[in-house]
Amino acid sequence: MSYETYAEHIAQLQQATEAALGKHEFEALVLCSGAAQLKNRFDDQTWPLSPTPTYSHWCPLVEPDAYVIVRPGKKPTLVRTVVDDFWETAVPPESDHFWEAFDVVTVGAGLAGDVLPGGKVAVITRDAGQAPPGEVNPSELIGALDQLRTIKTAYEIECLAEATRRAVIGHRAIEKRFLEGEVSELELHLTYLLASEQDDAVAPYKNIVALGEHCAVLHYVAYQKLKVAGPTSMLVDAGAKCQSYGSDITRTYARGDGAAANRFRALIGRLDEMQQQIVALIKPGVPYEDLHDETHRMLAKLLIETGLGKGSVDELATRGVTRAFLPHGLGHSLGVTVHDVGMKPRPPRPENKFLRTTSTIEAGQVFTIEPGLYFIEGLLGPLRAGDASTLVDWKAVDELRPFGGIRIEDNILVRAAGVRNLTREAFSA
Ligand code: GLY
Ligand code: MN
Ligand code: MN
Repeated sequence: MSYETYAEHIAQLQQATEAALGKHEFEALVLCSGAAQLKNRFDDQTWPLSPTPTYSHWCPLVEPDAYVIVRPGKKPTLVRTVVDDFWETAVPPESDHFWEAFDVVTVGAGLAGDVLPGGKVAVITRDAGQAPPGEVNPSELIGALDQLRTIKTAYEIECLAEATRRAVIGHRAIEKRFLEGEVSELELHLTYLLASEQDDAVAPYKNIVALGEHCAVLHYVAYQKLKVAGPTSMLVDAGAKCQSYGSDITRTYARGDGAAANRFRALIGRLDEMQQQIVALIKPGVPYEDLHDETHRMLAKLLIETGLGKGSVDELATRGVTRAFLPHGLGHSLGVTVHDVGMKPRPPRPENKFLRTTSTIEAGQVFTIEPGLYFIEGLLGPLRAGDASTLVDWKAVDELRPFGGIRIEDNILVRAAGVRNLTREAFSA
């Protein structure tokens, strides 16, 4: 990758940040990468650094105690803290494309002296106790900077597309290993990491790798060593990074024969089709929450057509049936954090309480579309005991329970006309 678009990314950020600083009456901005964090205070090991996202928006260098300083009309400064340490070293950046966008300054320890900007300074940090001088984390300025993260520059799109391609290499490897037969969740997780060339600690989020009924646990990361043979399911929700940008992809598979496995496999096919129908509805101007609502009507129809649901689409969507099968939101913004900021200007309606996105769809946004259908005892139990129980065929549910559930998740770039599905594009390359 050449990252030729990076200079333009920085130019756009500089211009928009200058406007935000002016509006909120600051003369300079200091973005801190963050200090190394102890894993626990009884030992001296630290976590791999996960830099403050506002810093990563500018700079892909992953080093503790680095700072980006932004001042109107000036080239941004990148301050690196270099200390003598024969115990540890930072992971080198994967490319050198970013250095020349900055005046690079090296300091011994801490941001001090003539490196510090004067005037009214805003400091954005996750270590408020050890921040350089200035107003720490001013919320209105942070809100304005968060907005800048919602519309991606060409550079960010390039990184997200590459992060998606890298994840798809892992997804292909894990699918192959699962379909070969007897295997544990731990081995599958490690297969994914090896193929996508990532350490667990630096993946954009911890891989969700579940077999069988574990697929019903939405964020399952308790990889068991138990080898599982025979007909079963696998849900893998795993991404990869390019520079600071992460992808977030889910696929679900069935293995083996028998009536139940075949029925579950057909259900995966149906949910996959439904997911693409949702993606086809995306266009600028549509409120994201409308897509989420439409997803529940589509899911109601799917439940009826596959024999899991009874009654009308309206009943299943309004009486909490679809929400027991699909409790989470349809998706979220992607960027330098996997659940990126700026696209929840208001809370969702109460029945959509886990929805992370309530903004209006605009060209340049990148978000996930990730419908699911799960057999979660904690949600289906109360449904079965309540008035809406007659809207479900419980025998059909019980047959599929051992397969846990399904999620299909793609990463979508919105364009003025239509979308670019970064995930399907990578899978079909
Ligand atoms: N991987 C977490 C999510 O899909 O939101
Ligand atoms: Mn997601
Ligand atoms: Mn995911």
